Amino acid sequence: MRLGHDVPVQESWGAVDEHLARALLPADAVLEQVLAENRAAGLPAIDVSPLQGAFLTLLTRVSGARRVLEIGTLGGYSTIHLARGLPGGGRVVTLEFEPHHAEVARRNLHRAGLAEVVEVRVGAALDTLPVLEREGAGPFDLVFIDADKRGYPQYLEWAVRLSRPGTVLVGDNVVRRGGLVDPAADGDPDVRGVRTFLDAVGAHPRLSATALQTVGAKGWDGFALAVVD
Ligand code: SAH
Ligand code: DHB
Ligand code: MG
Repeated sequence: MRLGHDVPVQESWGAVDEHLARALLPADAVLEQVLAENRAAGLPAIDVSPLQGAFLTLLTRVSGARRVLEIGTLGGYSTIHLARGLPGGGRVVTLEFEPHHAEVARRNLHRAGLAEVVEVRVGAALDTLPVLEREGAGPFDLVFIDADKRGYPQYLEWAVRLSRPGTVLVGDNVVRRGGLVDPAADGDPDVRGVRTFLDAVGAHPRLSATALQTVGAKGWDGFALAVVD
């Protein structure tokens, strides 16, 4: 078995993603403009895909979340999807290390009409998470973990601390083109972070979890999904 060689089928995955998006997602000028703004501002194109974004909106809705925490904002593309799943009065707090990313995200959120719904906090998440706790900002109903992968194990601990029974936890990018099981990636701190995160989720006495592999416009990856007992 060769791992990390999804290039020959990437084209079909991309075509299927386009088909699904055309069939299922409404045309959305705001979201398209967000991606254009991100590109123009030099942000890396590592946002969730449109279909994954719609999945986040649905998760927020089906869980009835009113308070959402996101760790890793980038340009706010996933943030907008999370915020769109909220009922009136719902709020998102999103944490971003790079001031430039946060500035682009704030502009995008303003354009999406979500400036009052979303709060972008700038700083290393391991610095801003304790501040949230001190402020009594939790418990959150849904936490989306999508910042630096080496930080995932600690973000998991914070997510649980800021949760209540029933809180939904989502971890993005837990497969990394098979890096998860590739011995050649053993030295990669991001892959190690994801492995430790998954082991910690599985061993956690208060979490019931699964993970789903995904293929599509963004290649081969996957997300972990857990609920706090
Ligand atoms: N959720 C976004 C993508 C996030 S990309 C989307 O799908 O649209 C990961 C983001 O995490 C980047 O913007 C990166 O700057 C940020 N990041 C990296 N290290 C971080 C840290 N220690 N604390 C907070 N954010 C961090
Ligand atoms: C990376 C980060 C992400 O959040 C993502 O969805 C894809 C890739 C990365 O850092 O490579
Ligand atoms: Mg991601």
